[in-house]
Amino acid sequence: MSFVRLPGLIDVHVHLREPGATHKEDWDSGTAAALAGGFTLVLAMPNTQPPITDEATFQEALSLAAQKARCDYAQYVGAGPDNAKSLPSLAKWAAGLKMYLDQTYGPLRLDDMRIWMDHVENWPKESPIVAHAEGRTLAAMILMAELFDRPVHIAHVSKAEEILLIRKAKEKGIAVTCEVCPHHLFLSEEDALLIGEGRSEVRPRLNSREDQRCLWENLEVIDCFATDHAPHTLSEKDGPNPPPGFPGLETILPLLLSAVHQGKLSLEDVILRLYTNPKKIFHLPDQPDTWVEVDTDQEWVIQGRELYSRCAWTPFEGRRVKGRVQRVVLRGQTAYEAGRVFAWPGFGQSIREIGLS
Ligand code: NCD
Ligand code: ZN
Ligand code: ZN
Repeated sequence: MSFVRLPGLIDVHVHLREPGATHKEDWDSGTAAALAGGFTLVLAMPNTQPPITDEATFQEALSLAAQKARCDYAQYVGAGPDNAKSLPSLAKWAAGLKMYLDQTYGPLRLDDMRIWMDHVENWPKESPIVAHAEGRTLAAMILMAELFDRPVHIAHVSKAEEILLIRKAKEKGIAVTCEVCPHHLFLSEEDALLIGEGRSEVRPRLNSREDQRCLWENLEVIDCFATDHAPHTLSEKDGPNPPPGFPGLETILPLLLSAVHQGKLSLEDVILRLYTNPKKIFHLPDQPDTWVEVDTDQEWVIQGRELYSRCAWTPFEGRRVKGRVQRVVLRGQTAYEAGRVFAWPGFGQSIREIGLS
């Protein structure tokens, strides 16, 4: 056995499905999965039912989170066609603004660039903007960061052309940061055959081996790893019109630790992208007396039915990994140990200012 202590990890991109789709996940099951995966802080996306796009829906999500979250959290608000002027009043309490600009799950996609500009111009510069922006849409968002002189974070970068464009933008001093998901680092379209057609649906799609290689070759351009934990049930994934998305909270760390064993990156690379950079980019506070104990030598096989995520499946089914979370301490309390979650629903705290006045 070989124990290492990591800081409480931060996932800046999770879908907890509440309100509206608690058969897939809720604040309770999703934050239990977070703790089991070594995360003590998650930032929740706004494409729920209803989507979080005004004060009433934001209040509803925060109140559910306050009752049910087992780890710390913040909630994003979603850019819509007519809320660019009103949303900024919620910025202080929000994880940030999420803009959906390409094909995704849920009703929040925006196509008109005038609306994009309204949001980028109006949202306070101190609060993050995260964009689902692929390919040429990503190029347009980089331009907007430059035009409106503010930082923009690009979600789930997956293609060679995207990471290379971000590299160039950073070299020019443009305030763009990005995250990459484990499924784009550890799976390619070749794995889709094995995973199955419906189950391998995800946005951005699984890409070529060359895209995958290019992400690894440009590790220094990747600011954060994020799961894009997007649970859907197996009957939905195996049925007609399978929704896109993979669960990921409980598998990202063992996958990355296995890659550390293989010499593909260092433990410091992992900590930088799952703690240090997320904390800096998203202006997140310290979590005192908080850490994660990992047995870096434990070998095990990933199995969907053992997960805390309500969806109980994984695209990494059957994969042998090396490295396992043993214990998670959050604000001095043992929140998870040896397969059991001890933090109770409601133990999690909002890391932005609590309560709207
Ligand atoms: C996400 C979901 O299911 O909410 N799906 C996905 O394939 N990534 C939506 C998103 O992140 O765009
Ligand atoms: Zn997305
Ligand atoms: Zn997502």
